[in-house]
Amino acid sequence: MRNETWHGERRRRRLVLVPCPYQGHITPMLQLGTILYSRGFSITISHAIFNSPVPKTHPHFRFVPIPDGLSESDISSGDITHILSTINENCKLSFLHLMESQEDEIVCIIFDEHMYFAEAVATKLKLPTIILRTTSSATFLARFALLGLKAEGYIPCQDSISNDMVPKLHPLRFKDLPLPKSPDFKRAAQLVLDSYTIRNSSAVIWNTMDCLEQTCLMQIQQECPVPIFPVGPIHKIAQPTSSSLLKEDSSCIAWLDKQSRNSVVYVSLGSIASLGEKEIAEMAWGLANSEQLFLWVVRSDSIPGSNWTEILPKGFKDGLGEKGCIVKWAPQKEVLAHEAVGGFLSHCGWNSTLESISQGVPLICKPCFGDQRVNARYVCHEWKVGVELEKIERGEVERAVRKVIVDDEGKEMRERARDLKEKVEVSTRKGGSSYNYLNEVVDLIMSF
Ligand code: UDX
Repeated sequence: MRNETWHGERRRRRLVLVPCPYQGHITPMLQLGTILYSRGFSITISHAIFNSPVPKTHPHFRFVPIPDGLSESDISSGDITHILSTINENCKLSFLHLMESQEDEIVCIIFDEHMYFAEAVATKLKLPTIILRTTSSATFLARFALLGLKAEGYIPCQDSISNDMVPKLHPLRFKDLPLPKSPDFKRAAQLVLDSYTIRNSSAVIWNTMDCLEQTCLMQIQQECPVPIFPVGPIHKIAQPTSSSLLKEDSSCIAWLDKQSRNSVVYVSLGSIASLGEKEIAEMAWGLANSEQLFLWVVRSDSIPGSNWTEILPKGFKDGLGEKGCIVKWAPQKEVLAHEAVGGFLSHCGWNSTLESISQGVPLICKPCFGDQRVNARYVCHEWKVGVELEKIERGEVERAVRKVIVDDEGKEMRERARDLKEKVEVSTRKGGSSYNYLNEVVDLIMSF
């Protein structure tokens, strides 16, 4: 039956969302889709076949896979720059055909900044587009700066300057720069340029917020020809639904229920970073020696070529008892919202950072690559809600865990984290900055 209500009028307007195929990007895009669905739009998720999202968790969306042409060797290379560049080269034509074959009127295409092939197709079809940026605005500035720093000969970075401040990029030191993992700097730099150029898009939606990043955002807006809408943290606005590519093990929530307030450190390095065998052992003994409770996510691919907890030191496993809980993948947002969790030892992926800050949980920052270093620096130095973990070495892990869970310094950090949580809540409530920007996004889409 045709729905003639105002709500129904809008529901017939279809948005196509194109996520980048990594967990840390799929999640905010699906959450944005959930928000826009609740505002009355129909949602199509057009995604690469590699790391396909799970349709059954979002039964109201239409999922349309795009043949991405990635080979087994492309995928197993783990070279994200290569994978993303290849997807952009391979998906353009198939996406064009898919869009041409859609029966519904498409109002707008919203694409992850790294999926810029979608913009080329939209321009051909004369459709408006909006870019979604899923990392921090500080990372955006730092990645742009890398291009100039390379030209000036600062990159590759000499050890002697790694602790020096980067000119015009306060508070970042050279060692905090989001250097690409890829060995091919030129290709990585091209990916940055392709992802950061606005071209014909009408606006930028950003998973960040004024209360965290106003200075960087203002700086970017001054140069940006289209409006920027910092509507984050998107997960706080969207109805909670899982967008995990891996199966969440909820048994850890029952374990957390048995622990007292702020007594547990949650340990997770996100969906991509992995540790070497020695680092796993050091982490294990550091956690054990801290004599604090811990919930540790050890992904089954944490150490390439080894089976899950086989890699943990035997003495550590034997003595584990009730002191720790180890899972392959946790319902992270639920974990961070649990009152037993008093700290988060994190790689500082942008989603993890936002999720921790939104729950007032202080961080122990062990960035592994790319933007994680920038986020860690902001967490510790600007927002002062975390401590740095320089090395995964048992003594350092033990000290950092005790600092956050037991020491007065940790209590002070927790208070600041709670203040920040309150600010985040205010920004997503009616009249708050993220709330207002979201309304502007909806108005803009309605104007197309
Ligand atoms: C990647 C990059 O590594 C990161 O630096 C960038 O900011 C985003 O893309 P990832 O490493 O996976 O992301 O980290 P993060 O951004 O923190 O995203 C991980 C997501 O997985 C979070 O939403 C987190 O809640 C979820 N997660 C993680 C789980 O649901 N369960 C887990 O056990 C671990």
